[in-house]
This record gives sequence, C-alpha cells and structure tokens, in this order.
Amino acid sequence: MIHYENKAIVLVRHPEGPLQLSEFRMKITPVRDLEPGEFLIANQWLSLDPYIRSRLNFSTDYVNSIHCGDVVAGETVGVVVASRNPNFNEGSKVFAYSGWQQYYISNERDFIVHTLPQVELPDTIFLNTVGTPGRAAYFGMMRIAKPHAGETLVVSAASGAVGSTVGQIGKMAGCRVVGIAGSEEKCRYVVHELGFDFCVNYRDSDFKHQLRQACPNGIDIYFENVGGRISVLVAQLLNDGARVPVCGNAANYDQSSSIAASSPADFFSSLPNPPVNRFFLVTEWFKDYPESDAWLLNALHDGKLKYRETLIDGLEKAPQAFIDLLNARHFGKQIVRIS
Ligand SMILES: NC(=O)c1ccc[n+]([C@@H]2O[C@H](COP(=O)([O-])OP(=O)(O)OC[C@H]3O[C@@H](n4cnc5c(N)ncnc54)[C@H](OP(=O)(O)O)[C@@H]3O)[C@@H](O)[C@H]2O)c1
Repeated sequence: MIHYENKAIVLVRHPEGPLQLSEFRMKITPVRDLEPGEFLIANQWLSLDPYIRSRLNFSTDYVNSIHCGDVVAGETVGVVVASRNPNFNEGSKVFAYSGWQQYYISNERDFIVHTLPQVELPDTIFLNTVGTPGRAAYFGMMRIAKPHAGETLVVSAASGAVGSTVGQIGKMAGCRVVGIAGSEEKCRYVVHELGFDFCVNYRDSDFKHQLRQACPNGIDIYFENVGGRISVLVAQLLNDGARVPVCGNAANYDQSSSIAASSPADFFSSLPNPPVNRFFLVTEWFKDYPESDAWLLNALHDGKLKYRETLIDGLEKAPQAFIDLLNARHFGKQIVRIS
C-alpha cells in the first residue's frame, strides 16, 4: 500500500465555557497498513454539526464525550483509496463517521459506512438534505408533527440545514410556515428563496410582538431546534392539540456543562396544557432511511426542496469554522472541504 500521512484535529482539553481555538490541535501520523476486510477512505468533505460541542465536554448526555487526544467526531464523504474488502472497491465514494481527519480506516462491522448512490447532485448533499439534517427534518415532521393543511408551523434556526428543510416540508403539506432566524439576510432567504410565509428575527427587540403578529391563529406545530428563551415565547402561542418535535437545543450547546439536548421537552411537558412533544434522535428511524432518502431526493429532483451550504477550504480551518457555527456566523449547512 502507498504510505499515507494522516492529518487529524484532536481535542487538547475539555472546554470551560465558550469554545476556544486552543482546545484543538493538528496531529500528523502515518496511516498503518490495512488488515484483511479493511479499506482506507480519503475524506473529501466534513460536516460540522452543532451537537458535537456537547460531546467536547468532560461529561455529556448527548451520545458520549470525546476524550482529550481523540479525533473530533464528524460525518464525512470520501473516496476509497486502498482496499482489502471486496465490497468497498478503490474509487468508491462512501459516507462514514470518520471524524475531523484526512484518512480513515473502516471495515464492514462499521454499520454506518456505506457506498453513496449516484445522483446528479453534489456529494455534499449526503451531509445535508439527504443526510442527518434532512432526515431529522423528515422524521420529525412525518412521525411526530404530522402536519395538516392550514395549520401554522413555526420552526427555529429556520435558515439552517434542518430548519430550512422542515419549513419546506411544511409548505408542501399546506401549512402556513413561520421561520425564526438571527438576521435580516437569513429571514429574507427563508421567505424569498425557500417560500416560507413569514420569518421573524429573534435578535429584534420586539421579537415577541412580531412572533405573535406572524401567528394570528396560534401555533399548531413548533419544530424545536434551539431551546431557551424562544421556547418560552412560542409556548405562549401554542394551540390545543399542538405538536412539538424536539430536535435540538442549539442555544445551550456552547457551555462547559451543556444543558441536555432533550431539555426543551422537559420544559414543554411541564406546561399546564402541554403539547404532544418529545425529543428524538434521527437514528431512531435508521431502518427507515431508504424511505426518507428516496422522498428527499425526489423532492430535490422536482425542485421542491432547496438548500444552502457554507464551504470552508482546509481541514486546519475546521476549528475556527466550528466556533463560527456555534456563534451562528455560518449560513445553511457548514461543510469543510478536506481535499
Ligand atoms: N435530533 C437529531 O437527531 C438531530 C439531527 C441533526 C440536527 N439536530 C439539531 O438540529 C438543530 C439544527 O441543526 P443544524 O445543523 O441545522 O444547525 P444550524 O441551524 O445550522 O445551526 C444552529 C442555529 O441555531 C440557532 N441558534 C443558536 N443559538 C440560538 C439562540 N440563542 N436563539 C435562537 N437561535 C439560536 C442559530 O440560528 P441563526 O443562524 O438563525 O441565528 C444557529 O445558526 C441543532 O440543535 C442540532 O443539534 C438534531
């Protein structure tokens, strides 16, 4: 096998408060030879995801902690460059949970790794609309929210990978869709490009008033991506029979002891007249991914689903890009081009 050198971003120490660049470092090591059944992936695209911040803490209830010295976790798309496995040939494009690194050795016991279908879309789509964010939007809407025409759907983090897909699914179901986002530019995008009916900027001083005006008939579905103050204001407008899929708690990730991703569900359950709500992890529907992927690919193909990405060049820029993501300085799905 050709000798490769791996570049990886590892965690130096668990963050104490908002994430700092000094908490990461680049580690360069030779790639070992492959054992029978193994194959080597050269990662091309890396997805940066807000929940990874919780996993950097010493303890977390969101999956498990990343230890000091470990490669930071993340989904990737890459190419098999060497193989001792007949099912993963050199040149195949694969999705894997490789982490923030250039090369990754996998084998068939890794149930996440799979060859990508051939589609007329950029490979990054499998980290975005036809990946974890799109599937979370699809299953949260189809299995928990169950939208009906004429209902009012509100979604937070509306311009992000999950929120933008949620709102467009809501429009396809005939809902009145109201987004919540953090800038005028993001609000304009979700209304003018994605077709939401309305978008409210949560940084505006009269956000509460604007949200009430945008939802004159109350809220039937609130798709929760952020938690915190927004949940409290939304809760005041929920109708009887409302549904709240709790997908994430992004407002509370960048802290040394993260508030659980599921905590908005505790808040909604504690209301005097609680909506149907529950926290979900998209992996609950792992066996149903063929259903979501076919639906999402069809919708993309038919021009009914749009998406946006922010691309950063170079693995070494991943830590800063991740800090920017946690501070909402990205727009759409944040992806790093590794090579
Ligand atoms: N349950 C699952 O299986 C699953 C799967 C995938 C993702 N998720 C979750 O889904 C959510 C969205 O993911 P994404 O990848 O699409 O991320 P994203 O929307 O691109 O990024 C998170 C966004 O949250 C918003 N936000 C952060 N702090 C906020 C605050 N204090 N108040 C209001 N909004 C705030 C910001 O929106 P603005 O840019 O508008 O300011 C930020 O851009 C995250 O919570 C993520 O963890 C869950």
